[in-house]
Amino acid sequence: MHLAMIALIAGSTHFLVPLGYYVYLKRNLSKPWRLNLDYNFSPSVTIMIPTFNEASLIEKKLDDIKAQMLSAWRMEIILVDSGSTDGTAQIATEWSLRNPEVDFTVITESTRRGKAYALNTGLHHAKGDIFVMTDADSSWVQNSLTAITQYFSDSSVGAVTGLKQPLIIGAERGGIEPTYRSFYNIVRLAESKIHSTPVFNGELAAFRRYLLVKNGGFPTDVGADDSHAATLLALNGYRAIAIPEALIHEFTPSSRIGYLMWKKRRALHLVQHFVRSISDAWKASPNFRKVLRMETYLHVVNPWLLLMSFVIFLLSVMIDLLSPLNLGIILAALLTQVLKPTRRALRAWIIEQMMLLFGSLTGLFSRELVWGKIEELRSDS
Ligand code: GDD
Ligand code: MN
Repeated sequence: MHLAMIALIAGSTHFLVPLGYYVYLKRNLSKPWRLNLDYNFSPSVTIMIPTFNEASLIEKKLDDIKAQMLSAWRMEIILVDSGSTDGTAQIATEWSLRNPEVDFTVITESTRRGKAYALNTGLHHAKGDIFVMTDADSSWVQNSLTAITQYFSDSSVGAVTGLKQPLIIGAERGGIEPTYRSFYNIVRLAESKIHSTPVFNGELAAFRRYLLVKNGGFPTDVGADDSHAATLLALNGYRAIAIPEALIHEFTPSSRIGYLMWKKRRALHLVQHFVRSISDAWKASPNFRKVLRMETYLHVVNPWLLLMSFVIFLLSVMIDLLSPLNLGIILAALLTQVLKPTRRALRAWIIEQMMLLFGSLTGLFSRELVWGKIEELRSDS
């Protein structure tokens, strides 16, 4: 077969499978939740913040959580700090003295073994029916926590997460992060309507505590602790959903290299999560099985088709630049650049694919279960 034809088939598969999935998801977006919610439900809640060197952000984060606490609730905050050298734990303890009405525990681990270990320490001390994890460098839109807890009034719900609204500091990078988020938020919601989404946002992720404990806590060998813990519950038949009423703000790194390294690590962690989950897909309900298989394909296999298509196309061009098929492919590629929305969407998509490829490759050498800080996210605030 002609090389350009092979490139075209691989490339078309790469783009058409996710597009088909997206169309299928959009059709499910308006479906009902099939949940019985009680808006007076008020379970006890543990909010857990793992920290490593978050001195510049931690007070604001604690104030933000306090602002969302309802006095009627039985709520506690647990902070587990892993050997910070910038005084994070002391600042948190001082905050606690100024806010004695808040049930707040600061636990310090002398060595840093990674976020998942800290989560498990927090889980061990937690008393709430619902265990909510959050990151120091994120905040929640008002009432997000209330909405999250209400969904647990249906006993089939095992885990609930929020959707992201990115905040960008520094230079605008062609709107890549907002484009990426608006697309993925639709995906997360529609998958949740179908049954469950296998991708959770650790900036606001809530779990029924006894189920987490039953599953042995958070996995310490998979970077995406949030998504993996939620998927394990979904594999056990519980719903693991993202809801539109809970919104998260997080900062996006402003330098290009910081942004790419940040995305690369997150991509690697998702690949680890899917590689680990897929062998248990047979356990899932038929609806979640479909979602899990497709997402695994999209994260683990599909990016390689794009690379393959690109390399084969380059070979084809080197052999015979002016073949009609080669010229046709070049023309089609140029056409995608004419309209701004397609240009932006394609750019965001391709960067994501590159991060999944790069992440998978670097994952052969390091799992990045303990990671470096993106300092620019913290220093500006
Ligand atoms: N205790 C403890 N120990 N906390 C840690 C450690 C650690 O070794 N490493 C990171 N943290 C804390 C950070 O202080 C922050 O509060 C939170 O964990 C998230 O770390 P970030 O450095 O902000 O990483 P991120 O923004 O990319 O995190 C996202 O991806 C992770 C997986 O790659 C979030 O979705 C996380 O929830 C997710 O685990
Ligand atoms: Mn972060």
